[in-house]
Amino acid sequence: MAETFPVPRTCPFAPPPEYEHMREQAPLVRGTHRDGEVWLVTRHAEAKQVLAGSGISTNPASPGHPNAITSGTRSPEEIAALEAFSIGHFIDLDPPEHGRFRRLLIPEFTVRRMRELRPGIQRLVDQLIDDMLAKGPEAELVEAFGLALPSLVICQLLGVPYADREFFQSRTRTMIDPTADSQTRWGAMSELRSFLDGLVTGAEAAPEDDLLGRLIGSGQLTHDELVGVIFLLLVAGHETTANMLPLSVLTLLRHPGQLAALRENPGKWPMAVDELLRYHSVVDWVAFDRVATEDQEIGGQQVRKGEGIFVLGASANRDERAFERPDEFDVERGARHHVAFGYGVHQCLGQNLARAELEIALRTLFERIPDLRVTVSDEDLSAKYDGAIFGLKAMPVAW
Ligand code: HEM
Repeated sequence: MAETFPVPRTCPFAPPPEYEHMREQAPLVRGTHRDGEVWLVTRHAEAKQVLAGSGISTNPASPGHPNAITSGTRSPEEIAALEAFSIGHFIDLDPPEHGRFRRLLIPEFTVRRMRELRPGIQRLVDQLIDDMLAKGPEAELVEAFGLALPSLVICQLLGVPYADREFFQSRTRTMIDPTADSQTRWGAMSELRSFLDGLVTGAEAAPEDDLLGRLIGSGQLTHDELVGVIFLLLVAGHETTANMLPLSVLTLLRHPGQLAALRENPGKWPMAVDELLRYHSVVDWVAFDRVATEDQEIGGQQVRKGEGIFVLGASANRDERAFERPDEFDVERGARHHVAFGYGVHQCLGQNLARAELEIALRTLFERIPDLRVTVSDEDLSAKYDGAIFGLKAMPVAW
């Protein structure tokens, strides 16, 4: 029988409980999605096969593509807005078009480039903690830390002037606010896009030696493509990192022995960050909407051209075939082969930046506020069980 999909989560520390049963059943199971029947990929090996595979498309315009978020009926205004937003949105493009954008962006996200960004990230983290301490001894961590940091890091990366940062932060916050209605969120998105349009126009007139200046200097992208590319960086890098931060703090506080070991041996933070990414898999299936563009066999299952596929990243990351004791949180496990950043040509471009942000933020927070504690029980925490990207709505802390 086909599973109704998506399946909601019920616990901040685990994927939907149904995933385990689905994974045992088969590497590919049938699901009923809003737009029709789809294949759900439950296991790690097959997840990688689909994400790296040829004969698979991520382009929403490909026949049979199951759109992850937007619903079937749209107003003419929404269709026009979506078309404008799709320019430069290379996460939705297949090779070879996808490669034109990806090749230009890769040098901006190398390990070396991220090393250069680290002192700036450290300053932003310290500033946010200074503010929390000044207002303390209580804070709401999602607002004060989770949402604030990724938005400031993107401002830094894109060279957003200090005077505009408050506007930028308030609009990015509204854009992903689960309590705001869709019109308000669309409004914030449009305002942000107009703002980025102005930023690109300014940089075109006087390019500097930064990410935007170098993209302009390449002469490979039109104005609208540039706006689309930097908008994608903002969207892809914001809610993901923002949700990971409070969830990570919560998880580490619930495993005090492992947190104490990290404090003693800070060299282990990078490994801990990958385990946190695996354990929470906040993106799960949301970015992994695909369609078969040719008949093929995946995990012993015939998949026909035009059939929609969702990879369940959170299930793949709890697959006992790839990870021993997968439901245990273990910062020592060495989980870097997780698929929380995807796999193949679309594997997260910002993964080194995300890792650096999480590592610096978590290490510094626990160093500077050693007696940090969550002031409510796990049952009283409010989480986005119905949201696209998983996370907490709020996390009250004190010290
Ligand atoms: C914890 C944080 C993050 C998580 C969990 C995450 C997760 C992902 C995943 C799963 C994909 C693959 C989508 C697919 O296969 O279709 C992806 C792609 C992408 N991510 Fe991230 N991401 C994070 C942070 C960031 C950051 C900080 C940036 C940049 C500022 C970023 C930029 C991108 C871009 C541009 C893509 C599209 C790559 C392509 O299509 O070639 N991400 N991300």
